[in-house]
Amino acid sequence: MESLKAKIDTSRLPRHIAIIMDGNGRWAKEKGHDRLYGHFHGVESVRDIVEGCAELGVGYLTLYAFSTENWDRPEDEVTGLMELLVDTIKKEVETLNKNNIRLHVIGDINMLPPYAQQELQEALEATNHNTGLNLIMALSYSSRWELVEAIKNIANDVKMGSLEPLSINQETVQNYLSTSNFPDPELMIRTSGEYRISNFLLYQLAYAELYFTNVRWPDFRKENLYEAILDFQARERRFGKTSEQLNPHITEED
Ligand code: IPE
Ligand code: IPE
Ligand code: MG
Repeated sequence: MESLKAKIDTSRLPRHIAIIMDGNGRWAKEKGHDRLYGHFHGVESVRDIVEGCAELGVGYLTLYAFSTENWDRPEDEVTGLMELLVDTIKKEVETLNKNNIRLHVIGDINMLPPYAQQELQEALEATNHNTGLNLIMALSYSSRWELVEAIKNIANDVKMGSLEPLSINQETVQNYLSTSNFPDPELMIRTSGEYRISNFLLYQLAYAELYFTNVRWPDFRKENLYEAILDFQARERRFGKTSEQLNPHITEED
């Protein structure tokens, strides 16, 4: 049987894949463990998917690791998760460099404990010369937080006289988002059978193809990623146009 990977058309890869890594807690509970056990195993999936994207030649991978709303979880889960995140990022720097992967972070980083901010900063600097896959970790991120920040900064620049209200266009807005250096995601994957966006990249996902799978994040592996990419490649992205406009050789009667 031909492998899924071999079926992927590498000339039509999604330039940017964004993933809501969901289902760690349920995965652990189903196995009779506590939620942190699930997060711990979720790291294995992160490694596999990052490697998979780098091997294929995907340009950008955004992983939703911790939302602004996740701060409201029980304190031991929040603390455990923070430690795991920071520990993992620190440990992975060497592998990131070996694979030419550049780390980026989006989110309200000031909410993180100081030691975590420090570790993150070091990892960002240690990988900032890499030119392969851009790995964007959404940490303490929410889209509404990001939009409020953008609006505050726009308002401030208008007040200071460096921005003319009438000149504001979509490009201006894009430039004020924390994703200003990245193209919009073309494929958004959510694991664990939930069909919602949960405050993730609301502006940037405007034309993304959405892919939902019941697989819980700790079980998600390269093969699952390939399936999602193949599904993406089978879709027609019309951006408001008609199918005939996109395929001029096909007549209305076809
Ligand atoms: C995703 O798994 C990881 C984070 C949100 C940090 P969850 O912890 O949300 O797991 P479920 O959805 O409760 O199973
Ligand atoms: C979304 O998952 C956030 C992350 C994966 C980091 P949640 O598990 O927090 O989302 P809801 O609460 O089910 O919408
Ligand atoms: Mg969840």
